[in-house]
Amino acid sequence: MKKRIAVLAGDGIGPEIMKEGLKVLDAIAKQFNHIFDYKEALVGGCAYDKYGHPLPDETKEVCNNSDAIYFGAVGGPKWENLPPELTPERGALLPLRGTYNLFANLRPAIIFGPLADAASLKSERLEGGLDILIVRELTGGIYFGRNKVKTLTLHEGALQGNYAVDYMIYSVPEIERIAAVACDAAMKRNKKLTSVDKANVLESSKLWRKVVTDYVQSHFPQIQLNHMYVDNAAMQLATNPKQFDVIVTENMFGDILSDLASAITGSIGMLPSASLAKTGFGLFEPIHGSAPDIAGLNKANPLAQILSGAMLLKYAFGLNRESKAIEEAIMKALENGYRTADLANKTTQEGKILLTSQMGDKVVEYLMVKS
Ligand code: NAI
Ligand code: MG
Repeated sequence: MKKRIAVLAGDGIGPEIMKEGLKVLDAIAKQFNHIFDYKEALVGGCAYDKYGHPLPDETKEVCNNSDAIYFGAVGGPKWENLPPELTPERGALLPLRGTYNLFANLRPAIIFGPLADAASLKSERLEGGLDILIVRELTGGIYFGRNKVKTLTLHEGALQGNYAVDYMIYSVPEIERIAAVACDAAMKRNKKLTSVDKANVLESSKLWRKVVTDYVQSHFPQIQLNHMYVDNAAMQLATNPKQFDVIVTENMFGDILSDLASAITGSIGMLPSASLAKTGFGLFEPIHGSAPDIAGLNKANPLAQILSGAMLLKYAFGLNRESKAIEEAIMKALENGYRTADLANKTTQEGKILLTSQMGDKVVEYLMVKS
């Protein structure tokens, strides 16, 4: 398979961890006979410094001519005080999501078994690790409601600041397309899907529940679907997370639940994400930022970046076997006691604390070992 990948490493630790991500993709290409054609481009603060904009035309052009975007992280203190539209996150990440209509945000909450003791829940609740995928609707709901009712005249009281109003609006096609992404993901995993809403109170949630139910029944009857209210889902995530496999939910609920889910895993340097369009085109990035405090020290954990590469292979190119191979190689490195500084604790053996580049090498090493 031959694919073009836009490589946007960004700022801070971005370039360091991206180097390891590409190292692993190169190893996959070699092992499985693929050609990945990388086109690097500047994004974020470094792009602002060179072109005066965090998402210059040159970079958009590279993205337009690619099959997927592999993204590092952007931002840092140097660019914090720019006008909002020129800051790395507002000026680059949000426009990228908008331009490519990346309406589906996939955020796994994973704990590899060997790291269960580093997580924030009691380790018996996480025995054998944790593997949840949250599919969050990213371009609708209450965060975007205002745009859809622009034509309605707000009541005078709101305009005078006497009260404030937000609209949670969902249309059938918006719910159907996110249900489709969630079903697709569930089919690639364990055919188990939990839809989270507040259908006992909200009209938009009643519609959500009906559309998800109809969609699953008519397209994927083999998927085991259950529904949960969002307040209960939060409690269940915090007490018994292993009951979940794929969770699908609207924008705001997904924002809150995915932060909760990543907090219980205890390590920001391990968690990847994907933002997908209907076409399968997507942007793949670690959930963490540019970590300016450790940039340039070769000690950042590259595993979230490497796992984002695994998601890219799976969701953008359908390369499930290759994606799995990366996850297994990481598992082997962790099982053998290798850690980056952020994962190390008192029990970490001497000599097993690796630098960024050494962890990348280690993953490649285990990738090459036939088990
Ligand atoms: P951050 O995620 O960059 O860092 C938070 C803490 O986690 C720091 O102590 C950092 O050293 C550590 N950390 C993060 N990733 C790590 C890794 N891979 N290995 C080891 N330790 C790691 O969040 P923070 O400090 O709030 O933001 C820093 C900059 O990143 C800001 O400019 C922010 O706007 C930007 N940012 C960018 C994002 C993106 O590109 N999507 C997302 C979040 C923040
Ligand atoms: Mg959030």
